[in-house]
Parts: sequence; structure tokens; C-alpha cells
Amino acid sequence: MDFRLATQNDGEAIVSLFTSVFAQSEEDAEGALIGQLARNLLEQTEAADLYSFVAVEHGQILGAIVFSRLRLDAPISAFILSPVAVRSDRQGQGIGQALINHGLGELKHQGERLVLTYGDPAFYGKVGFQPVSPEQIMPPYALSQPEGWLGQVLTGEAIASLSGRCTCVAALSDPQYW
Ligand SMILES: CC(C)(COP(=O)(O)OP(=O)(O)OC[C@H]1O[C@@H](n2cnc3c(N)ncnc32)[C@H](O)[C@@H]1OP(=O)(O)O)[C@@H](O)C(=O)NCCC(=O)NCCS
Repeated sequence: MDFRLATQNDGEAIVSLFTSVFAQSEEDAEGALIGQLARNLLEQTEAADLYSFVAVEHGQILGAIVFSRLRLDAPISAFILSPVAVRSDRQGQGIGQALINHGLGELKHQGERLVLTYGDPAFYGKVGFQPVSPEQIMPPYALSQPEGWLGQVLTGEAIASLSGRCTCVAALSDPQYW
């Protein structure tokens, strides 16, 4: 298994991975929604505001993850992890955690500091995320599941309280994702 930065040539495979994984784990409409989100993130986001990595085995993409920039009032480089998926027939084998850890390590290496995500605390807690309150860091939109607002500082410090609402890239600027 290799982990590497996604290239433009990976775009269609990544979109189809997200579409099929979320269709299987939830329903077709969710697959279409997250597939379109992945397409918009990859196609509409400035390169400086995006990191995308894939897990590859024998030339096949088994997993994909996207991080996009969050802007805060404070001078801190922050990204949001969303979405991530592992091919349905390969879930539960450690690929997802390894891919997330690879991505976090690369962001740290690039000097990025804070990573947030919005998802299941039980899963993301396995890869270092801790609950963040909206008072600590105000999300771009009101959250339908506030307990899913999670973060970590890549240098290991505690998450400070930061004033002001953070803003996300255009692809995520839609309340239905929140
Ligand atoms: C979530 C996902 C990326 C995890 O990747 P994975 O390769 O299956 O996960 P790993 O094998 O590294 O880790 C498995 C662990 O995470 C837990 N886990 C996996 N998916 C989970 C989920 N959706 N919610 C809670 N826990 C989850 C498993 O119970 C397992 O725990 P254990 O090690 O204590 O048994 C993958 O299952 C997936 O693509 N799911 C569908 C899409 C999705 O929900 N994406 C995340 C939201 S953006």
C-alpha cells in the first residue's frame, strides 16, 4: 500500500470512489452529494488551499482524503479534513486510519498547524481529533450535529479559543454539508 498526493489524473477515480462508497454506506443520494463535493473541491479550489491524498495498491485507488483551507481571524494555518473514504470492500483493515495519519503527517511537514473535521468522534478520536466547541472555534455554518466538530493541533498543543467565525472554501460553502 502506498500513500501519495493525488494528481489531476486521479480526479475521476476519486470522484467515483466517493460516489460509490457513500452510496453504499448511506444511500444513492448521499453518494451523489459527496461525489459532487469531491469534484467541486478538486476542480474549484486553489492549489494552495487544497491537499488531497490517495491510498494505492497495485495501481488501484483504495482510499482518498481531501483537506481544504479554513480561514480564521487569527494568523493560523488551518485545514478541514472532509471527505475521506475507503473502498467498501476494503474497509475495516486500517487503511482509513493510515491514510488520515499520512495526510496529517504531510500537512505537519508543510508547516500547517490546525486541522478540523466534522464527523464521528469515536472514529476520528482514533487519529488524534478531540471535540471542539463552537465557542472555541466557530464553524462556518450552524452544525446539525455539534458533537461532530473536532480538531487537533499538529504540533500537539491544546486547541486555543479563537475569535470569529471561520470560513471554508467555496466547495464546502453550503449549509447542507454542515
Ligand atoms: C470511515 C472510513 C474512512 C474508515 O476507513 P477504514 O479503513 O474502514 O477504517 P480503519 O480500518 O482504519 O479503522 C476501523 C475502525 O474505525 C471504526 N470505524 C470505521 N468507520 C466508522 C464510522 N463510520 N463510524 C465510526 N467508527 C468507524 C471501526 O469500528 C474500526 O474500529 P476498531 O479499530 O476499534 O475496530 C471508511 O470506513 C469509509 O469510507 N466509510 C464510509 C464513508 C465515511 O463514513 N467516511 C467518513 C465521513 S467523511
